[in-house]
Amino acid sequence: MVLPTQVYPVIWYHDHVRLIDQTRLPNEYSVVEISRSDDMAVAIKTMIVRGAPAIGVAAAYGVYLGAREIKTDDRALFLSDLEEVAQKLRATRPTAVNLFWAIERMMKTARQTIGTVDQLRPVLLETAQAINAEDIETCQAIGDFGLQALPASPAKLRLLTHCNAGALATAGYGTALGVVRSAWRDDRLERVYADETRPRLQGAKLTAWECVQEGIPVTVITDSMAAHCMKLGMIDVVVVGADRIAANGDAANKIGTYTLALIAKAHNVPFYVAAPLSTVDFSLSDGGLIPIEERDPEEVYQVGGTRLCPVGVEFYNPAFDVTPATLITGIITELGVVKPAELVQFQEKQVG
Ligand code: MRU
Repeated sequence: MVLPTQVYPVIWYHDHVRLIDQTRLPNEYSVVEISRSDDMAVAIKTMIVRGAPAIGVAAAYGVYLGAREIKTDDRALFLSDLEEVAQKLRATRPTAVNLFWAIERMMKTARQTIGTVDQLRPVLLETAQAINAEDIETCQAIGDFGLQALPASPAKLRLLTHCNAGALATAGYGTALGVVRSAWRDDRLERVYADETRPRLQGAKLTAWECVQEGIPVTVITDSMAAHCMKLGMIDVVVVGADRIAANGDAANKIGTYTLALIAKAHNVPFYVAAPLSTVDFSLSDGGLIPIEERDPEEVYQVGGTRLCPVGVEFYNPAFDVTPATLITGIITELGVVKPAELVQFQEKQVG
């Protein structure tokens, strides 16, 4: 099955919220229908929907689904019940700030819209749909700005990425893979190298799947092969996504990103972080303050349902790490590409 368009919908609303089930790719393309806010919280937690911008969009729809479930006409009671829904959605995943950003935008809309509860509900749906649509435009702008920042030579680049910061991780087009898509469109790309991305293999499963959909040449490597590939001169640029960027430009992304930044520095390979401004948390001065999600150790000790390690071993499973700003060549946003220290110039322009 090949999807024909560059921007296939990842999340959309038609009576219910529909999501591509990312836990089943690449072997099965299936769409999940979600009609309750509780189910949306589960979908985010279990990574049916994942990737920072995508979980923001999903959570925004989750708030709307909650608004549909609350039966009272009393506005104050409605708002306090909606806050409980918001809290349940906030509790799903702690690192990606887009989740909190989108929920806050929904809650602010609920608080500030004048009118009855019946008038509020459609406004909340419109807001979730706006967040969804804006994210696609944002990613296209990131892709095009990123393209301009790519090294001028060679003419066709070999680009390494980590995890999946693609259409699947956003509302469409992707951030790091947005840069890939724009580079492919303009004939600036020779090949994508996709780190497999242990433990959940988003690179091997999702990034590779997206590239195959569009005929973009892709080579999957294990995470531990990246330094070797750089030493052999096989990589011209690294572009990754982010889950939360602090005001000083330190960037949290999928575990293993920090290692990649260190080895890119050691081999003089430019290292870019591509992310929308909704991923920047200007309230945090540096990356040490970013909460890092720890996930079930099962993700580390078993693969495809088969246990790899002996019983009695202990495990540590942080889902993200923080790359210091000093290792980042530039941050690619929808407003342009900046040095990490220059990110604060965009603070006033952050929507929400
Ligand atoms: O745990 P995941 O799969 O949600 O982690 C996703 C990432 O780390 C992505 O790189 C990040 O969210 C950016 S997505 C555009």
